[in-house]
Amino acid sequence: MPITFDSTSRTFHLRNDQISYLMRVLENGTLGHLYFGGSLAESGSYGRLSGGEYLGLSNRLGEPVPFEFPTAGIGDFRVPALTIEQPNGSTALDPRYASHRVFGGKSAIPGLPSTYVQGYDEAETLEILLADTPASLEIRLFYSIYADRAVITRSIRCRNVGSEPLTVRCAMSASLDLPDSDWEMIHLSGAWARERHVRARRLDAGSQSIGSLRGASGHEHNPFLVLKRAHTTEEAGEAFGLSLVYSGNFLAEAEVDQFRTTRVRIGINPDGFAWVLDPGTEFCAPEAVLAYSEAGMGALSDTYHSLYRDRLARGVWRDAPRPIVLNNWEATYFDFDEARLLEIATSARELGVEMFVLDDGWFGRRDSDASSLGDWTANKAKLPGGVEGIARQIEALGLRFGIWIEPEMVNQRSQLFVDHPDWAIGVPTRPRTEGRNQLVLDMARHEVVDYLFGVLSELLGKAPISYVKWDMNRNITEPFSPSLPAARQGEFYHRYILGVYDLYERLTRAFPQVLFESCAGGGGRFDPGILQFAPQGWTSDDTDAVERLRIQWGTSLCYPLSSMAAHVSAVPNHQTGRSTPLATRAGVAFFGVLGYELDPVALTDEERAAVSDQIDYYKARRELFQRGRLVRLRSPFEGGGNETAWMTVSADAKRAVVGHYRVLNGPHRSRERLRLRGLDPKASYRVSVWPAGDDPISAANSGIRGGDELMRLGLVVAPESPSDSRYEGDFTARLFDLEAEATARPNGPA
Ligand code: GLA
Repeated sequence: MPITFDSTSRTFHLRNDQISYLMRVLENGTLGHLYFGGSLAESGSYGRLSGGEYLGLSNRLGEPVPFEFPTAGIGDFRVPALTIEQPNGSTALDPRYASHRVFGGKSAIPGLPSTYVQGYDEAETLEILLADTPASLEIRLFYSIYADRAVITRSIRCRNVGSEPLTVRCAMSASLDLPDSDWEMIHLSGAWARERHVRARRLDAGSQSIGSLRGASGHEHNPFLVLKRAHTTEEAGEAFGLSLVYSGNFLAEAEVDQFRTTRVRIGINPDGFAWVLDPGTEFCAPEAVLAYSEAGMGALSDTYHSLYRDRLARGVWRDAPRPIVLNNWEATYFDFDEARLLEIATSARELGVEMFVLDDGWFGRRDSDASSLGDWTANKAKLPGGVEGIARQIEALGLRFGIWIEPEMVNQRSQLFVDHPDWAIGVPTRPRTEGRNQLVLDMARHEVVDYLFGVLSELLGKAPISYVKWDMNRNITEPFSPSLPAARQGEFYHRYILGVYDLYERLTRAFPQVLFESCAGGGGRFDPGILQFAPQGWTSDDTDAVERLRIQWGTSLCYPLSSMAAHVSAVPNHQTGRSTPLATRAGVAFFGVLGYELDPVALTDEERAAVSDQIDYYKARRELFQRGRLVRLRSPFEGGGNETAWMTVSADAKRAVVGHYRVLNGPHRSRERLRLRGLDPKASYRVSVWPAGDDPISAANSGIRGGDELMRLGLVVAPESPSDSRYEGDFTARLFDLEAEATARPNGPA
């Protein structure tokens, strides 16, 4: 059994072959944290890890006691996991162990997305009940451990068992006390068009944090944080990950105290948050997913990838091969009509594209971003037959049809705003701030969510729509909902996200065959919460191949290939003005869910032949590119960032594709090699190079190579002869296709 309780030492041990998580009920009833890390033998003797000195706190104020779920006001002066304001105004809290139970599987969290099991034997859950009698508060801590994954999922629920309201001021989903501070904090930060760049800093005294107060997880930071040792690499060393299954305001923070211990916590951002807990009611915090690796960052990512791909994403599209789309946004922006769309779609179909996606501009009177959000009926001037008409014509071409919506938004110039001006978020006594000429709808109000469900159900029900790109292009200002009394305005941001989840839930249940792709001005809400409903997201509005190397690399620290939509766009690139070769743009976009975001009609015959070849290449390896194991080889964030390399490997290691990218070429390169990982050392692989050509790199690598050679010596990625650099140029991409021969080599390694 993965979860045991030793009643003598009152120690809980959650373990599988990869990890152990240990807690103990201390003598005074407080829940102490003992250990999270690599697997320890099943034994009842770990109670001693808590040490005799932790028996009572009252005379040892500020000692670095490792707490499982710390609270404020009782002698632990570090940041708390839970702050509850009580009827007398006090926030001191001292919850004690009351009881626990263990059950097979794991439970869902009401109103919130979470990881799940498909059978009760996949995971086991420990539910610990803590009680604080003076506050009339019960806290339930949930810990789930999967039989074969290196993760612990955690969530909490607080219940008011008294007769007066309480206010939850801070409810972290997880807090973890680590015995030292010798860690680097890795986080994914950036901005619009350069999302999720890898940032690293040594932990130092005091607190260091990332978070969001925008109403969405944001482009700026991602609800994901890693602590790794300085020497931890992709392939070796220790790392902890904390990831929050949530799409709203979050906080991820590490605090180093005077004893150089570290407390790391993740959850809803307490800033501006206050939830009134009426007698008899419960507050549920989102799920936190804690992963551990002692085999480097690569193994940590593997854990998140498989869990989020297979047990967070849901529905028929979770496992189904994702279609190659052509999206008209950068081809036309708002300027199109039915004939133009059909021209694009026809041309795309000839290239092998599988789905046509109609982006912004199809509804209301939308010819720019200044109007019509909220009016989700077709612009008849552009689409005389409505959405149904264009969708049916696209289908008649042999393509599936997808559509863009931005349900959470409204323009002041729209019928929806005329009809319901009070549905737009704003403080009644203040002007509303516009962003991209639009306001945000109050998703905290049930009638708004009901209305949107009605309108969007009609849209999806009437036309043959196979895909929805759900966008969200601005953050929230003047947060306020007239549906909430003054004392409950602190609930607004969380209720907004609950409303978004409710709409997603209802639409995905009503239209299970539709593939949802999330988007928020590119990757502004690319998080595990949304991934439950939309198994893929628009990774970034920046489609420049060089920029995408960093964006996709950073995103891959937590998120699987199947979640990253990646499109080939025209040059000069619309975000950076850079011109990269078509093959390079494709060579980067292959590693994810491939699509095109350009005007195929404008391509030359040579370019059309190249795109057609790219699509064939991708289709033949779609499973590898979308669901293979990603192995990161050379980081764009290290060594000046001139080179990036990664590979995707099949589960049986019989197939792999390696991508190697160089930003700028240099003269007189020496013969350079790229060592691979994750192959079968005994296998023989047939190596072929893409794009195929009569060049020195193809000549040096093509043919049969041993897995041992590929991993110990590597592929040749710069010419054998310095003068051959002339073949290269700037912004190059080369893919190496590896296919294992049927029989192992007779003299391969033991
Ligand atoms: C956002 C998206 C783009 C596109 C536009 C349309 O910026 O990220 O992909 O859909 O909106 O307005």
